[in-house]
Amino acid sequence: MGHGIAQVSAQAGHATVVREVSADALAKGLGMIRKFLEAGVAKGKITQEAADRTLGNLEGTTELRDLAECDLVIEAVSENLALKRDLIGNIDRVCQPEALFASNTSSLSITELATFTKRPDRFLGLHFFNPVQLMKLVEVVKTLATSDAALKAATDWCRSIGKTVVTVGDSTGFVVNRLLVPYMLDAVRVFEQGLASRDDIDNAMKLGCGYPMGPLFLGDYVGLDTTHAIAQIMFEEFKEPRFAPPPLLRRMVLAGRHGRKTGRGFYDWSTNPPS
Ligand code: 3HC
Repeated sequence: MGHGIAQVSAQAGHATVVREVSADALAKGLGMIRKFLEAGVAKGKITQEAADRTLGNLEGTTELRDLAECDLVIEAVSENLALKRDLIGNIDRVCQPEALFASNTSSLSITELATFTKRPDRFLGLHFFNPVQLMKLVEVVKTLATSDAALKAATDWCRSIGKTVVTVGDSTGFVVNRLLVPYMLDAVRVFEQGLASRDDIDNAMKLGCGYPMGPLFLGDYVGLDTTHAIAQIMFEEFKEPRFAPPPLLRRMVLAGRHGRKTGRGFYDWSTNPPS
């Protein structure tokens, strides 16, 4: 989701530094931004000037120290606590003390992530949704330690990039994933139990409830590995069976069927549209 967050920030006129782990990953992320902007121009949604301005507001780097002058740092690495602990601790050391820190985690505890810094009063969650460029919501997650000033600054920034904010407490999954993830897991269970075909499950929810994507397609779209990781973390937190990843989901992840990102999940993503 990092490239989407960087894009909406730059698109709103903010000078934005994108830090990636390698030159390859950086080129891939910036390439995705370029592709989205080109599609926007082709569809007449944005002007070429706006696309150029967005790219001009972006600076790519593989060095953490290039984040030193940033006012707001948003972490969007995988849902892995050890990885986030190392990264957030390192960023805390290089960034100016007054900078605001946010995590885009969808399931880990913001309160715990804040303990990896010396600025828990300036640490909060900014939970974006896929695809970040099109989804209008950000969940702003406030911990017991987050100051009112930090909450206001983060909320103002989200509004400046055109998002609608809902403010939530630091509970695993916040509001959206607390409701969405059990629904997606139930869809996998319905499929696993042979109650209906993939297409019938997805069409049922699209046409029966007006959802823009069916739950199995959405799982592929978000990433089955990400969905599995979120479910696992929610299950560990709440110990409720509804959050437990179904065996089929686990096996698909183990088999590398992560959905869109690996080309195969419930759908085959090598075709356009996915089949
Ligand atoms: N540049 C600018 N605008 C663009 C664009 C581009 N490159 N591509 C599309 N758009 C615009 C379109 O023109 C259209 O605008 P309009 O409404 O004014 O006509 C709008 O964006 C929608 O685009 P499309 O018509 O091409 O696409 P769809 O109508 O098929 O919608 C979708 C795509 C918005 C992704 C829709 O399918 C959707 O809402 N899906 C559900 C996504 C979802 O549930 N996300 C949440 C996942 S959970 C999550 O992220 C949490 C995490 O923790 C896991």
